[in-house]
Amino acid sequence: MSIPAEFFEMRDVAIATAREAGAVIRAVAEQGVKEIVFKGEGKRDLVTEADKRSEQIIIDAIMRRYPDHRILAEEGTGTGGAGAYRWIVDPLDGTTNFAHRYPLYCVSIAVEHAGEPVVGVVFAPYMDELFVAVKGGGATLNGVPIAVSGVTDLIGGLLCTGFPYRLDGPTNNLVNWGNFVLRTQATRRDGAAALDLCYVAAGRFDGFWELNLQPWDMAAGALMIVEAGGMISDPYGNPFRVDGHDILASNGHLHAKMRDVLAMSKNGHGTGKPNAETEQLAAQAAPEPTRDPTTI
Ligand code: IPD
Ligand code: CA
Ligand code: CA
Repeated sequence: MSIPAEFFEMRDVAIATAREAGAVIRAVAEQGVKEIVFKGEGKRDLVTEADKRSEQIIIDAIMRRYPDHRILAEEGTGTGGAGAYRWIVDPLDGTTNFAHRYPLYCVSIAVEHAGEPVVGVVFAPYMDELFVAVKGGGATLNGVPIAVSGVTDLIGGLLCTGFPYRLDGPTNNLVNWGNFVLRTQATRRDGAAALDLCYVAAGRFDGFWELNLQPWDMAAGALMIVEAGGMISDPYGNPFRVDGHDILASNGHLHAKMRDVLAMSKNGHGTGKPNAETEQLAAQAAPEPTRDPTTI
């Protein structure tokens, strides 16, 4: 089936505005982030001037070119209407990283048609890495096609996840974290879900899961993974939905294995206690010290 020309046109608009917004984000980083405010009650969910300036640049570009398209953007810009296309924008994914000058952050822009992402653009300005996917057209990193990894066992895998800003709920992911750390080569928390998904697409990570995400965290990266030959679903075996909040993404080989591990904690909805097998693995991983820990 041929790819509609308008997908490529929207891709090019997304790339241009992601680069422009990325340059502003980078400039704010270089000058030092001055304005940080907290969303909600806690001290974890930040927003900076860079988030807002980036969103304005992206929204202006979309509305100039596609005034009848719908938009959902994290920092509050939403436009309704009957248009078939919806742009889903995270103007700065990884704000906490950004505020701490940890360089993993990005701009994420997706276009959805009939509930499915058809264009995904993720730009990481510090790394100068541009991930692009068009439905049916493959995925690229800086213009070079990318593909998921071939790792087939969890113990050979490098996985990634994230944690919600509110950690008091049953989906705080802490039990899953322990369950995966004990069964994989390594498990990371990199702090920018859109970029984490692109890293799965590029074969850097072999799998990713997270609970409580928003459409703007997932839409572009999810398409990237499918177009790079990987697999996405929710953690419970149902098809992925952009507004579904919970995601399991992998190179395909690890998908069922990751689902089994997530099921151990009833996918994060369980008791919060590690199961017996995990306790045994933890005991093996942490034998009693054989030397006096007070001496070097
Ligand atoms: C957050 C990041 C983080 C994830 C959080 C997201 P933000 O987005 O993607 O990795 O764990 O759940 O909210 O707030 O930096 O755009
Ligand atoms: Ca985000
Ligand atoms: Ca954000």
